[in-house]
Amino acid sequence: MTRTLTIRRPDDWHLHLRDGAMMQGVLPETARHFGRAIVMPNLVPPVVNAADVTAYRDRILAALPQGADFTPLMTLYLTEQTDPADIAAAHESGLVTAVKLYPAGATTNSASGVRAFDKVRGVLEVMAEIGMPLCVHGEVTDTEVDIFDREAVFIDRVLDPLRRATPGLRVVMEHITTADGVAYVADHHKDLGATITTHHLIINRNHILVGGIRPHYYCLPVAKREKHRIALVEAATSGDRRFFLGTDSAPHADAAKESACGCAGIFSATNTLSCLAEVFEAADKLDSLERFASLNGAAFYGLEPNADTITLTRGDPVHYPEKIDTGAGPVTVFDPGFPLHWHVS
Ligand code: NCD
Ligand code: ZN
Repeated sequence: MTRTLTIRRPDDWHLHLRDGAMMQGVLPETARHFGRAIVMPNLVPPVVNAADVTAYRDRILAALPQGADFTPLMTLYLTEQTDPADIAAAHESGLVTAVKLYPAGATTNSASGVRAFDKVRGVLEVMAEIGMPLCVHGEVTDTEVDIFDREAVFIDRVLDPLRRATPGLRVVMEHITTADGVAYVADHHKDLGATITTHHLIINRNHILVGGIRPHYYCLPVAKREKHRIALVEAATSGDRRFFLGTDSAPHADAAKESACGCAGIFSATNTLSCLAEVFEAADKLDSLERFASLNGAAFYGLEPNADTITLTRGDPVHYPEKIDTGAGPVTVFDPGFPLHWHVS
């Protein structure tokens, strides 16, 4: 049995760092193990232009622990007012790596997102021309669509038409949660990738609802049936270069989760790599972990993998904190529900 595994330092291709005291608290958790992360722009107010991005990036860099070697890769929040020329300039200068599309109302802080997709056509065309990736939150928001169907319906109604209308647009379907998402990505070889979270490889919808309602397993897109989780594990462990890690680690203070209307988001930055090693080991695919966590995402974004490495060592269970303390309140760490044997160094 493999006891140690050395892989290129991983990157997180979908991460929420928040701002202020919360960011101060959660940033070290990611910077400890990851080299880079695609930083989501859904602050309040959102990060919508180059000035916002510059200021946010500076706040992240200032909050990094001393000696941390971590690079935030910044995103812009697409609104119906976004100016194509601004986006192109921000990409050209290297300031912005990708643009984030939230259907308005789909998730936490998405109210400024897109309602009418024809209003962003000009931006998408410019992005296709310059090769700038679009990160997509793939859920419809129509009230008549069941929450468990919103990803599959989004593929048919929005994503596929949008990709056909904008040939060459590079799209990341983020945090896919269904066999439908896996199949769509697997069928479309060019210009399409997908991130998969740690928690969607581990939980299904029973974890949220059986034996009591468990707010710390509630996130969006919501976890689906077991057959979907199995499809996600197959995709993640396949080595297929179109699938890569995006933890979607999304901290909310416990008080905001443990409430009559709890926020969506699972915080997994602290123990993600140990969780993933267990998942890949159980699938007998530890040799694919590096591709999923460290190589495929960089290749999609046209970046070199990180030069340095991390080592995972199997041993007695690792004890991660149940919660981390932040200046914005305690944040519960994702509980995979099984012991974690892989130590990260
Ligand atoms: C994210 C958040 O809290 O910002 N929540 C979540 O459940 N994943 C937003 C998102 O990525 O949908
Ligand atoms: Zn997210």
